[in-house]
Amino acid sequence: MEFVVKSGAAEKQKTGCLAIAVSKKELPASATAIDTLTEGYLAGLLKRGDLEFKAGHSLMLLHTHHAPFERLLLVALGEKNTPLSEADFRKLLANLTGQLKAIKSKDITIAIDELAVAEKSHQWVTRQLVEAVEYAFYQFSQYKNDGGKDPALKKVVLLTDRKNADEVKAGLAEGQAIGSGRNVARTLGNLPGNICHPAYLADEAKALAKRHAKLTTKILNEKQMSDLGMSSLLSVSAGSEQEARLICMEFKNGKRGAKPLILLGKGITFDTGGISLKPGAAMDEMKFDMCGAASVFGVMNAIIDLDLPLNVIGMVAAAENMPSGKATRPGDIVTSMSGKTIEILNTDAEGRLVLCDALTYAERYKPEAVVDIATLTGACIVALGHHTTGLLSNNNALAEELLDASKGSMDKAWQLPMGEEYAQQLDSNFADLANIGGPGAGTITAGCFLAKFAEAYPWAHLDIAGTAWKSGKDKGATGRPVPMLVQFLLNRINQ
Ligand code: BES
Ligand code: MN
Ligand code: ZN
Repeated sequence: MEFVVKSGAAEKQKTGCLAIAVSKKELPASATAIDTLTEGYLAGLLKRGDLEFKAGHSLMLLHTHHAPFERLLLVALGEKNTPLSEADFRKLLANLTGQLKAIKSKDITIAIDELAVAEKSHQWVTRQLVEAVEYAFYQFSQYKNDGGKDPALKKVVLLTDRKNADEVKAGLAEGQAIGSGRNVARTLGNLPGNICHPAYLADEAKALAKRHAKLTTKILNEKQMSDLGMSSLLSVSAGSEQEARLICMEFKNGKRGAKPLILLGKGITFDTGGISLKPGAAMDEMKFDMCGAASVFGVMNAIIDLDLPLNVIGMVAAAENMPSGKATRPGDIVTSMSGKTIEILNTDAEGRLVLCDALTYAERYKPEAVVDIATLTGACIVALGHHTTGLLSNNNALAEELLDASKGSMDKAWQLPMGEEYAQQLDSNFADLANIGGPGAGTITAGCFLAKFAEAYPWAHLDIAGTAWKSGKDKGATGRPVPMLVQFLLNRINQ
């Protein structure tokens, strides 16, 4: 989608469609001007009750007398012309993007200043709007012979008062970077396991490095990982024909010598469960088990676009979890790179087995903090459903920063507790720890497992099992938590 920022009077816009905010009482300025222009047409129409004055409702008018625009889209704010709550703004965006997809016009001009959200800047509103448009117009049609349907709309003009134009432009740049980063993550997530295997992800990293001089890659193959003693990670790929990879994308755009932030993604390109085989129903969705890794790629793309002055390492632990004669058995004991021994009681708890060796490897970067992102536990869906990402951390300040970022980006997260009593569920009779912690608090015991390998730095873990993709009719990757992570990095700069 092409976006343009423009200043001028709403009623004078020559456009295929003009979108303005309306409320029952005290019409906003643009609506008032258009009402005058159309000799009270608008007020009359609204009085007749043709538009429900609730956020999430709108009315498309196809003919407007005496007006330079071909269509007029009335977007309801509510009863009064007061700033929207975030929840109402969400509803408004869902309705607006729906209208944009259905419209037959090639362009639309949106009077953005009058879409006010409580306690939020024009920059924030613009960013969210642009993100929502990028999200709505995403298509994954590369494997369809008909190539998908092209929408009519090609251009969105953001109409703003001259005094807000800089803010709107900044919001547009952020929205485009986050929106397209999120779509990069969605595409990687949506790709099937036979295409998107660990080597494919490694190639993706190399391609990204070509796009930006300050991004370099280090990619470890199985031999190199074996030499480093990563037997835990390698126990996951043992049953697969696909070799595992540990991918490090080093973005050095911050102060020289400043400690880097590390984002580490779980990249299980397909999770069959291994010898602890999963049931068949919906197993196809386990191609999404690399959505943590996909989100790291999405964030790296966004920070390249925004040229963020930070040192960020994007790490991806990529492997395929398959059953075979070479696969790891339940009961097998492996020695991780840290030296800790692990009894693998369930080969389906593989995410933590690849992440733990990556967490140990991360120590080499002497990181400021490490955030891992993983579709780690079905238990997280039981606890938080599909709306909220699970957050666990060994550092309160880091957890607060991430919660702040989640609030600032409408990409929800919620912190779960940790503690010795939960960690004890991982006790093993035969090794230093077991890879599962029994039926209770599965998300927390998974976090406790990871925490044992993240003692050298502030660490946080995002369990995105419920938020990374949608099932059913709208099956597909969501690109979460790219917005939250980019917000986290943006907040770090402004600190
Ligand atoms: N990738 C799954 C977690 C998952 C399951 C995410 C369903 C989204 C939907 C993970 O590797 C896994 O299988 N976890 C097991 C852990 C258990 C064996 C302790 C789970 O959640 O059942
Ligand atoms: Mn699994
Ligand atoms: Zn998994």
